Amino acid sequence: MANGRRKIAVIGAGNVGATCAFVLAQMKIADIVLLDIYEGFAKGKALDMSQNSNILNYNGTITGTADYADIANSEVIVVTSGFPRQPGMSREDLIGKNADIVKQVGTGIREHAPDAVIIMITNPLDLMTYHMQQVTGFPTERVIGQAGVLDSARMAHFIALELGCAEEDVSPMVLGGHGDTMVPLPRYTTVGGIPITQLMSEETIAAISERTAKGGGEIVKLLERGSAFYAPGSAAAIMAESVLNDRKRVIPASCHLSGEYGLENIYIGVPCIIGANGVEKIFELDLTDSELESLQGSAHFYKSQLVDILGY
Ligand code: NAI
Ligand code: 2OP
Repeated sequence: MANGRRKIAVIGAGNVGATCAFVLAQMKIADIVLLDIYEGFAKGKALDMSQNSNILNYNGTITGTADYADIANSEVIVVTSGFPRQPGMSREDLIGKNADIVKQVGTGIREHAPDAVIIMITNPLDLMTYHMQQVTGFPTERVIGQAGVLDSARMAHFIALELGCAEEDVSPMVLGGHGDTMVPLPRYTTVGGIPITQLMSEETIAAISERTAKGGGEIVKLLERGSAFYAPGSAAAIMAESVLNDRKRVIPASCHLSGEYGLENIYIGVPCIIGANGVEKIFELDLTDSELESLQGSAHFYKSQLVDILGY
């Protein structure tokens, strides 16, 4: 740390990575290194953001690079490198190509930033988080997947629209994998402390849960090229900040389970505390049989892909 400031690296300078770097810059918490396989692309984005410093007055540098030596001493690394979905594709269609990218990136991180906490974004999220942990050999608590912050925020938005209330008063909870099998939990979702089950009909809640689970696809269809990035980039930044500043935020994230919820050796979305050590505690919610069945069903879906496609 030549200048004494802390460092966060963002791998992949595309839509999600650049948005994440931009949000982090405005938090004024660290210098940011943006790494992409295309050096000029990373340097160009970093220069553009740096020229914004006089306008937005952030305190720290943003540099672009293709050289992993530049991520040395990063305390947190957000990994967004990988192909996004196009219309008609599921997140799982990205497995093969993105697994190769994660292997390359994980090797660079292992060599140059062996003490970092990794926040994974690349899809299919739960599988790529598992893969990154295996490639780096990092302790499981230091490799975390971002999905729950985004999926919960989507649910919060739909609830706020329905009730005509402030978004900030909605406390949503979405567990499970980042895909069609995700598990919105209305019983644990509150507005101003009131469970939404007391504020909306079952049909409305079911419709909101369905729209949440398909939230990424709805945006892919509208954009017609690529996938969402403003909320995903911000969600990653929130997690990175919780690690860097040891905030101990309680959020749903894709964590490695060792028996919790009856699940073993799998990454899947559950509520946890995120601090300087990564995942510091996993909360086991009291679930109904049907909620637990949905969470386990989601985990089994990804477990079979880990084995059948990635060969774990
Ligand atoms: P993008 O195409 O805009 O950016 C991806 C970047 O990765 C590109 O700049 C590309 O040059 C770079 N890249 C590719 N291979 C690389 C390598 N080997 N090393 C370094 N950089 C490399 O895509 P976008 O929209 O930023 O999405 C990135 C990933 O994040 C996708 O897999 C997408 O599905 C996923 N995603 C996940 C979300 C989540 O909630 N977990 C939400 C949104 C997107
Ligand atoms: C999303 O949920 C594509 O995973 C991305 O928007």
